[in-house]
Amino acid sequence: MTTAETAATPAPQAPQAPHAAHAELVRKIYLSGIAGEKPKLSTDLTALEEAARAVLEPRAYAYVAGDAGTGATGRANREAFDQWRLLPRMWKGVGERDLSVSLLGRRLEVPVLLAPVAAQTVVHPEGELASVRAAAEVGVPFVLSSFSSHSMEDVAEAAGAQPRWYQLYWPNDPAVAESLVRRVAAAGYTAIVVTVDNPTFGYRPSDLDTAYIPFVHGEGIANFTSDPAFRSQLPEDAGDMAAIAHWAKIASNPTLTWDDLPRLRRWTDLPLLIKGIQHPDDARRALAAGADGVVVSNHGGRQLDGGVAALDALPAVRAAVGPAVPVLMDSGIRTGTDIVKALALGADAVLYGRPYIYGLSLDGQPGVAHVLRCLLADLDLAMTLTGCPSLTHITRELVAPRGPLTV
Ligand SMILES: Cc1cc2nc3c(=O)[nH]c(=O)nc-3n(C[C@H](O)[C@H](O)[C@H](O)COP(=O)(O)O)c2cc1C
Repeated sequence: MTTAETAATPAPQAPQAPHAAHAELVRKIYLSGIAGEKPKLSTDLTALEEAARAVLEPRAYAYVAGDAGTGATGRANREAFDQWRLLPRMWKGVGERDLSVSLLGRRLEVPVLLAPVAAQTVVHPEGELASVRAAAEVGVPFVLSSFSSHSMEDVAEAAGAQPRWYQLYWPNDPAVAESLVRRVAAAGYTAIVVTVDNPTFGYRPSDLDTAYIPFVHGEGIANFTSDPAFRSQLPEDAGDMAAIAHWAKIASNPTLTWDDLPRLRRWTDLPLLIKGIQHPDDARRALAAGADGVVVSNHGGRQLDGGVAALDALPAVRAAVGPAVPVLMDSGIRTGTDIVKALALGADAVLYGRPYIYGLSLDGQPGVAHVLRCLLADLDLAMTLTGCPSLTHITRELVAPRGPLTV
């Protein structure tokens, strides 16, 4: 067919299954090529980091991309995905795909949430407001960091009806901790993700070399400066520097133990997921202390250098908690096929981190929406190509360790 003929002929309409829309992106892009258009940002989600590097201030790029120490944990995260190969099955009836998952008593349209990432105004003036609007546009739930540049109430308003969770860094001031947790429920967040791998910031040479961390510049502390308990601890006329200094004093809490979790449980009825679990025994302890689920994560390699890859820890954690407990995973996920591997190795859903921040850096809300659409198209196609009409078909048999096949 000539180009002219193609342009004149209406595009063949694939039957629209309720959940099959994600892969449609690919068809739309090819059709836009007829009019000489192409995507503004790359559809290669592993290429966005370099693109963002070109537009960001060096210290902002270093803050997002940087890892702890030599970067060994970050590298391990990616290498672990490459140790597993997908083993596709044929003729499984994949004309319609259902990407939805039931999690904490709710149905999510896709098994992906946006990971909590702090201080997003570092890369774009609209920060979390742009990200959460994009998440709502595409239908992906958003997890708001404790250390966000906009308050949890403002982000909730921007989210509209889209499900949102709140990530808690438990501050070392009990009054502020309780006040934050009570605001979370009042603002309509439906789960709390308690991050436990951050008793202190990791040793990050890329941030140390630029002597930069957003918080001391007043970015990423909006939940605190808007908090009545926090404010009541400062003189009425306290300026920004006093607020930053007070935040720095109470923000982290290295004294916490599993015995503290029941206290948090008393402050809220919301489901609690513990993020930063790597050892199966910690997963068991979290559940015994009252958690509803865990997130296997090493913070994208930003905390401890030389640590295990999150994907390598995932099967052992799943085995420890059994099939019914919600297990999420992040650290190293870049593509739709990475999500399939994580789900095959035991995750119910994943958190998506740095790539959406690169999308935000490059093009604000449309940039984040582009990244999410590409990710979901890739996931939808990966399910089609591996023979999985729904997530329940993504089982351990779908992956094989690299090397000769032994099935
Ligand atoms: C710039 C940046 C800031 C982050 N801030 C937080 C945070 O405030 N709370 C948290 O629990 N995790 C935070 N994380 C970790 C992410 O939630 C997630 O675990 C990590 O990005 C996964 O690694 P990946 O992005 O390399 O896949 C942050 C990550 C980055 C890159």
